[in-house]
Amino acid sequence: MTDKAASGANHAPETAQGDGAARPLMLRGFAIHQGFLDRPAQERMLEELRAVQRAAPVFRPVTPGGKRMSVRMTSAGRYGWYSDRKGYRYEPRHPSGSAWPPIPPSVMAVWRALGDARRDPDCCLVNFYGEGARMGLHQDRDEADFSYPVVSVSLGDDGLLRVGGTDRREGTQSLWLHSGDVVVMGGAARLAWHGVDRIRFGSSGLLSDGGRINLTLRVVD
Ligand code: SIN
Ligand code: FE2
Repeated sequence: MTDKAASGANHAPETAQGDGAARPLMLRGFAIHQGFLDRPAQERMLEELRAVQRAAPVFRPVTPGGKRMSVRMTSAGRYGWYSDRKGYRYEPRHPSGSAWPPIPPSVMAVWRALGDARRDPDCCLVNFYGEGARMGLHQDRDEADFSYPVVSVSLGDDGLLRVGGTDRREGTQSLWLHSGDVVVMGGAARLAWHGVDRIRFGSSGLLSDGGRINLTLRVVD
């Protein structure tokens, strides 16, 4: 894992011992790799995401219940995540009718370092949180095979992650995610309930207009 992380994803030197990657922080089965991407790596990723956004402009999906989400979204990869009155699902095309752009190399490198070696992800969902945006408690369960983890990258402003158990009635715990953190949601926690209660708008200088970007990498079918 150490070699892959070092060559693939610009792993921040977190351990004084210099013997490899720091152990992730565990929160209810989520593995939180704090500071996985250093600032130059975050900037390179942001640059590649600009191209994704040009090819596939962000939109605000409507939930099956008819509410417009506060988070703006787009995707890269073979599939994009989508929602409307008909339900949550993956679509092979952006609402404009174009295919989704490819997942950027810097993002793929994170999957190769921390994701699952059996397969590359089919979808990189890109979520933009502006001031006041949040993501309600949910499970990621629109994918066919839950043995693959979901890998989540945070860029920009801090976001307050809330994590519960696989049963909605279980209690939750919260943790602030910072720019460059990577969360691996796998194993027994693959179907854990989670959400983002709020962001600290303007807490990071990474995005010139403020806000937070979260990327989630998923194997879909
Ligand atoms: C998500 O669960 O889809 C987003 C998580 C995050 O924004 O950190
Ligand atoms: Fe999620």
